[in-house]
Amino acid sequence: MFRSIRLLFVVALLPGLLITPLHHASAQESKPPSGQLQAQPSDDAVFQRFLEWLPSARPANDTPELTNQYRSHLKSGGASDAEVRRQMGIIGRLLRERADGWRFIFNNVYASSTPSFVTQPNALLVATVEGRKPGRALDIGMGQGRNSIFLALKGWDVTGLDVSDEGIAVARKNAERAGVKINAIRETIEAFDYGTGQWDLIVSMYEPFPVTSTEYVERLRKSLKPGGLIVLENFAPEDTMLDWTATDPGPLLVAFKDFRLVYFQDTFAKPDFVTPQEKRHLVRMVVEKRP
Ligand SMILES: C[S@@+](CC[C@H](N)C(=O)[O-])C[C@H]1O[C@@H](n2cnc3c(N)ncnc32)[C@H](O)[C@@H]1O
Repeated sequence: MFRSIRLLFVVALLPGLLITPLHHASAQESKPPSGQLQAQPSDDAVFQRFLEWLPSARPANDTPELTNQYRSHLKSGGASDAEVRRQMGIIGRLLRERADGWRFIFNNVYASSTPSFVTQPNALLVATVEGRKPGRALDIGMGQGRNSIFLALKGWDVTGLDVSDEGIAVARKNAERAGVKINAIRETIEAFDYGTGQWDLIVSMYEPFPVTSTEYVERLRKSLKPGGLIVLENFAPEDTMLDWTATDPGPLLVAFKDFRLVYFQDTFAKPDFVTPQEKRHLVRMVVEKRP
């Protein structure tokens, strides 16, 4: 699914040349150059319109389907190809800054009756906890809870957080069905209090979040117990343009240099969040907090 989100980010960075005849502008509009009849909507207006449209979108199996729906919506409103690209680029950029966009997007994906995400636990996580004494685990961006429920079934005390209300609702339902308790919290990565010395295990699977910032790595490190593990898997960037939803293997190693490296793989393999699966550039890492 992130393939097209990422395409959305990298392809749509070219500024549009033409004005858009879209309706319902809600934020201030930029001034049109002389001779043009209508102004391009400002970045805020573009993002606001996208958010306003999302609840009315048909439930989509994945984000490509959803973003294609929005492209068609813009086109049917009379926007040129260049303007569609411009607006999708703005939306991609602002999704980085405003977690609410992800909330609406994943609410839609998780509400689909035939969602195209994997429901089995992540294989790296399964291998990592094999034979390990269960403790307290934090699943960041737990989605529909496949990893949280697996851990709970293995005896872990699991807290999962996600910005998506639908994801949290599905996770709770799945946990109930599986006969386990999980603490599922509707919260953003940015706002959640990770605490100090709290976790034996942190799970970060396919998070569209820049995981290599010094401030974020320090939050993770502080919140782990000594000897606690972080298990991470994500897409790696596949082009040279800024691709912030992916995790660059080099900077990842540097960012986590104060941890003990337990496992690292920079590989081409089938991602285990989206279906159908094609081989993609992935990064997998397990690190341990030093005592
Ligand atoms: C690709 S899904 C992965 C879900 C889960 N980790 C898995 O592997 O099944 C990314 C998840 O991150 C959540 N998410 C994205 N940005 C977030 C943020 N800023 N705070 C909390 N959750 C976020 C989304 O709602 C979505 O459920």
